[in-house]
Amino acid sequence: MTAAFEAALADFARALEAGLAARLDAVPRPGEIVRPARLVAAMRHAVLAGGKRLRPFLLTEVARLLDPGLTIDALMPAAAAIECLHCYSLVHDDLPAMDDDALRRGRPTVHIAYDEATAILAGDGLLTLAFDLLADPACHADPAVRAALVLDLARAGGLGGMVGGQMLDLAAEGRFGDDAAPGEAGIRELQAMKTGALIRAATVMGGRLGGASAAESVRFGRFGDILGLAFQLADDLLDVTATEREMGKAVAKDAAHGKGTLVALHGVDAVRTELDRLVAEATDLLAPWGERSETLAAAARFVAERRR
Ligand code: IPE
Ligand code: IPE
Ligand code: MG
Ligand code: MG
Ligand code: MG
Repeated sequence: MTAAFEAALADFARALEAGLAARLDAVPRPGEIVRPARLVAAMRHAVLAGGKRLRPFLLTEVARLLDPGLTIDALMPAAAAIECLHCYSLVHDDLPAMDDDALRRGRPTVHIAYDEATAILAGDGLLTLAFDLLADPACHADPAVRAALVLDLARAGGLGGMVGGQMLDLAAEGRFGDDAAPGEAGIRELQAMKTGALIRAATVMGGRLGGASAAESVRFGRFGDILGLAFQLADDLLDVTATEREMGKAVAKDAAHGKGTLVALHGVDAVRTELDRLVAEATDLLAPWGERSETLAAAARFVAERRR
């Protein structure tokens, strides 16, 4: 992992955190009535302090590769939107009814720090805020672009994307009795949904904001697909190989829950080999941009080699 990449990601994370904090204050926006203090605090707990910020980073890097004139500030609404949706997915994923986790990003999960009902509402609030940020004129001057971004995130985050993937993920644990444990194809599909869809949305939305051509958009969609697959493979690998301290969340949970993963199916070494192959494939897709795409290539390596 290059130190330069880690530094770039850390710089971006600081800027994003400031952008998120500014949007999650107690001041009602036009059309709102009151922002309840407990809910604001729980949403800030879910979103601020910690997190790799990989999805918004990918969004801004793709946009700026295509249009170097775009600033982080200009891209902040869309970047903040995808991170809000991601954080909502984590808050709900950690709930007792879902994965029942007490630690996230090195801190108590929202339902532990507050309570279950507040955590559900904090997730609901973040999901809604994501679309508020995209629909607001501050996101992009062209209403057609804003509407397209809303649709990108809705399709990636919803029934046939992240939420659908979470449903399949729970079914794969055998929770609903009648579901057979998924094989390789089933695991890949549920992972493409629960994790891949949002990472793909980050690269596609970045392409849209950068004015991608149809061909470029397809290429970045594919890049996002590969990164998404690699990301969840690495998450499953780290569940087996990393410590709770490194990850800031509980580890060794997947096997305990009988979760279908490719690590369980093929073992650690096979998954490491697959990760190397995916990084090479992702890097090849960046060839048209040559050296200018070095940060995105480093992001692909980071996804595969990360320890957090
Ligand atoms: C965790 O996502 C959930 C998965 C999709 C595996 P991240 O590993 O990106 O979590 P943060 O945002 O860095 O905490
Ligand atoms: C989470 O997958 C995917 C989401 C949509 C949140 P996991 O359940 O494996 O994520 P962690 O390990 O809790 O972060
Ligand atoms: Mg889960
Ligand atoms: Mg989980
Ligand atoms: Mg996991």
